Amino acid sequence: MAVGRGMREVTLDVVPLYWDEAQARLMLLDQRRLPHAEEWLACANAAEVARAIREMVVRGAPAIGIAAAYGVALEALALQHSDNWPAALQPAIDQLAASRPTAVNLFWALKLMGEALQRHARQADLPQRLLQLAEDIHQADIEASLSMGQLGAELIARHDRHPQRLMTHCNAGALATGGYGTALGVIRAAHAAGLVECVHVNETRPWLQGSRLTAWELLREDIPLQLNVDSAAAHLLKAGDISWVIVGADRIAANGDVANKIGTYALAVQAMHHGARFMVVAPTSTIDMQLDCGEDIPIEERDAEELLVLNGQPLTVPMPVCNPVFDVTPADLIDVLVTEKGIVERPDADSLAALMSRDRLH
Ligand code: MRU
Repeated sequence: MAVGRGMREVTLDVVPLYWDEAQARLMLLDQRRLPHAEEWLACANAAEVARAIREMVVRGAPAIGIAAAYGVALEALALQHSDNWPAALQPAIDQLAASRPTAVNLFWALKLMGEALQRHARQADLPQRLLQLAEDIHQADIEASLSMGQLGAELIARHDRHPQRLMTHCNAGALATGGYGTALGVIRAAHAAGLVECVHVNETRPWLQGSRLTAWELLREDIPLQLNVDSAAAHLLKAGDISWVIVGADRIAANGDVANKIGTYALAVQAMHHGARFMVVAPTSTIDMQLDCGEDIPIEERDAEELLVLNGQPLTVPMPVCNPVFDVTPADLIDVLVTEKGIVERPDADSLAALMSRDRLH
């Protein structure tokens, strides 16, 4: 898919979603079926988008924000001739907001859509304006990923120009964003610059975003990789030849604490202990300046089934389960935060406040 609209032309091999103009539908690549099947799901209204987010058809912080924005536009197109228009849109926005709690990009995108709804409520072309805004949010996210990829790869090169061993967790790739990816965008750009010897991919229990999604993206582009179970990470880092651990984020508090996929915190501790650098890559739409610190970030708990059942087969006997799917890495374990507005070394409250007051780079 070619994107760019006069900004920066790039062809994206993988996209998690697109707007189907002819049918006026949001098309979602069903990430539950990857890597075995590439199936697209058409969404016709906000309820269908909310369900797709909840059930992980589309996942990853920026991607669910973009999907929710299109969800509002879909609902506007469906409801524009109804009696209670446009007030009837608010329940749809609330329903989308209730789909998943941790990634702030969802609430960030819905806030933008809600503000546009208020601003243009009396305009006859309100649905078209909301659709245009959803497309702008989508486009800006791709641009942000491309900028972060470049900045992160430059940073890696600044430390060492030889091909390096990197580690990543979960999927912060094209599938988790508008396209290209955050952590995986940096890895893509580093690979293009000849800086990648191997990417160690943590499988990411229980949903297997690493082995099913990140590996799929890397294999498509012939980026050398090796898959490991999550609990092998400390053992691999101890060998001392992995220079960077590179991850995405679901929400970053004002003091620089980072919520990301469960297991990220352990990786940051291990990276610090073994001298690997720890890089978080996230657009500024992931930064929540309303929350002072990571302890305030709501952590999603998902169904026990994710631990007890695999592909319909019981893995063990039924029992009480604790399944938090995100954790919080304290800011002082993070070497560098890469955003589209620039790089922050050792993020803290002051440096994040300064970053958020800067204009975008692109
Ligand atoms: O539960 P998921 O798959 O939505 O979790 C995704 C992650 O934790 C990603 O690392 C994060 O959203 C960043 S995506 C660019």
